[in-house]
Amino acid sequence: MFETEINTSVAKAAAWLHQGEVVGIPTETVYGLAGNALNEDAALKIFKAKNRPHFDPLIVHVHSIGEIEKYAAFIPAKAKLLLQKFSPGPLTVLLPKRECIPYLVTSGLDTVAIRVPNHPLTLQLLQEIDFPLAAPSANPFGYISPTSSYHVYDQLHGRIPYILDGGVTDVGVESTIVGFVGEEVVVNRLGGLAVEEIEKLVGKVRVETQQSANPKAPGMLQHHYAPKKKMLLLESANKATDIEAGYILYNEHLSHIPLQNQILLSPVGSLSEAAKNLFAAMRQLDKSNVSVIYAIRFPEVGLGRAINDRLYRACVNN
Ligand code: TXA
Ligand code: MG
Repeated sequence: MFETEINTSVAKAAAWLHQGEVVGIPTETVYGLAGNALNEDAALKIFKAKNRPHFDPLIVHVHSIGEIEKYAAFIPAKAKLLLQKFSPGPLTVLLPKRECIPYLVTSGLDTVAIRVPNHPLTLQLLQEIDFPLAAPSANPFGYISPTSSYHVYDQLHGRIPYILDGGVTDVGVESTIVGFVGEEVVVNRLGGLAVEEIEKLVGKVRVETQQSANPKAPGMLQHHYAPKKKMLLLESANKATDIEAGYILYNEHLSHIPLQNQILLSPVGSLSEAAKNLFAAMRQLDKSNVSVIYAIRFPEVGLGRAINDRLYRACVNN
C-alpha cells in the first residue's frame, strides 16, 4: 500500500520511476499509468495495479520521433509521414519492435505500439529519464479512462505512490492506433486523431476495430470503457422516454426529460469539445443516483466516430 501523492513535480515522478515504481502521468488524451518500458518488473506492476490481463499489450511513450528509432526496427514511409505531421499528438503507431522492448510489454507480439504524447509535463519527464514509459490508461481494466488526476486518485489511490498532476486532459479520448500492412494503413482503434485527418495525408485507410474474439487491441474488446451502471445507446432523441434515467447528449436538451438528468457534452456543437467531456460525464452519471444511463448516438464524422465507438463499447445493448 502507498500513500498516493498528487503533485506537479516532474522530479518526484522521475524519482519513483527510477526506483522501478509506476506513477500516474497526464497526456493530452487520458491519464496513463506509467512504468519503465525496458524493465519487466515495472511492467508487471502496471498490469497488477489495474488488474489488466497480460494478453493486453501496453503503449510505449517517448519524447520525440527520433527516439522511436531506438525501439522500432523499421518505420514504413507512411508511418513516418504521419508521425512527422501528428507527433506529438494523439497518434499511436504499430511498428516491428526491437529486442530491447520486453515481450511482456507487447504481450508476445512482434510489434510495439508507440507514441509521442503531447503534454508539457510528461514530455519534460520523458526528457529527464533515460528510458521510455509503458503506459496504459490509468483506470481499472474495463472501466472508463481517467481525464483528470482526481479520476486516477479515485480508483488507484493506495496502489501507486504518485500522480503527476497535469490538469484536465485536452483531447479526452485515447489515441488513434494505426498499423501498417504492406502499403495499407489500418486504423485499429478510433481515437483523438480523426480518420479524415489521416486520410488527407496517406489516402484511404481501412478501419478495423472489431475483434472481440482474439483482440489485437483490447481497446477493441466489445465491452470496454464501461461504467458500473447499465448504459444503453439510443439511435435518436425520440427513443428517449425514461424520465428517471441519466442522459449523455451532444448539444441539445431533451424537452421531456428533467434537466438535472441531462449532460450536454458540447452546447456549442463541437465534437472535439464533446470528446473532451465524454468520460467525465460518464463518471458523473455513474456516481449519481440515476439507475440507468442513456446516450444518443453522435454524428459519425471526425471525433464523433471515436465518441460513438466508446459509447458503443460502454453500452450493454451493443
Ligand atoms: O491515448 C492513449 O493511447 C492512452 C495514453 C495513456 O497514452 N493509452 C491507452 O492505453 O489508451 P491502453 O492500454 O488503455 O490502450 C492501449 C491499446 C490496447 O487496446 C492495446 O491492445 C493496444 O493499444 N496495443 C498495444 N500494443 C499493441 C500492439 N503491439 N498491437 C496491437 N495493439 C496494441
Ligand atoms: Mg485503456
